[in-house]
Amino acid sequence: RAADLGALIAARVRDVPDYPQPGVVFKDITPLLADAGAFGQVVGAVVAQYGAGAVDKVAGIEARGFILGAPVADRAGAGFVPVRKAGKLPSQVIAASYDLEYGSATIEVHADAFTPGERVLIVDDVLATGGTARAAVELVRRAGATVVGVSVLLELAFLHGRERLDALGGVETRALL
Ligand code: PRP
Repeated sequence: RAADLGALIAARVRDVPDYPQPGVVFKDITPLLADAGAFGQVVGAVVAQYGAGAVDKVAGIEARGFILGAPVADRAGAGFVPVRKAGKLPSQVIAASYDLEYGSATIEVHADAFTPGERVLIVDDVLATGGTARAAVELVRRAGATVVGVSVLLELAFLHGRERLDALGGVETRALL
């Protein structure tokens, strides 16, 4: 049940106050990843959000979106595409930038990571302001592929990331907690 899974996630995600800076409470998913049963249930729950054969590629966002997205891709019978911080991918890239509280950040995918019309699920651990996920949607769409959804382990609703994704149109945002 969704409520049981939510409770399990809540029990396995550790709040770390004042990390990485004062006033921020960091959501540390390492206890969840270390629990084989909990990790497997989370992966299974994300896969179950979409019907069999509904996803061609999973795009995982660096770094924790790699850890969650790769097993989701494998179990869904989909390929995996890393969405990386700028400067990490070796071949030709397309890039999208987004604003942070101070300054900006850039994420990239390989220009040939998707073929036009492919159905892509974007996976990350946390949806906060939504800036990262929004930029990932932009990258997938610019590559000519279709975003079937954004799935995260947990959503910090008070930061309104879901509204920023809704504003793009056509993006289903799903959070397990
Ligand atoms: C965190 C998190 C998401 C993003 C969410 O990543 O894993 O990718 O921030 O924030 P947003 O919704 O406000 O954009 P982080 O930047 O800490 O990178 P990391 O996973 O490489 O540590």
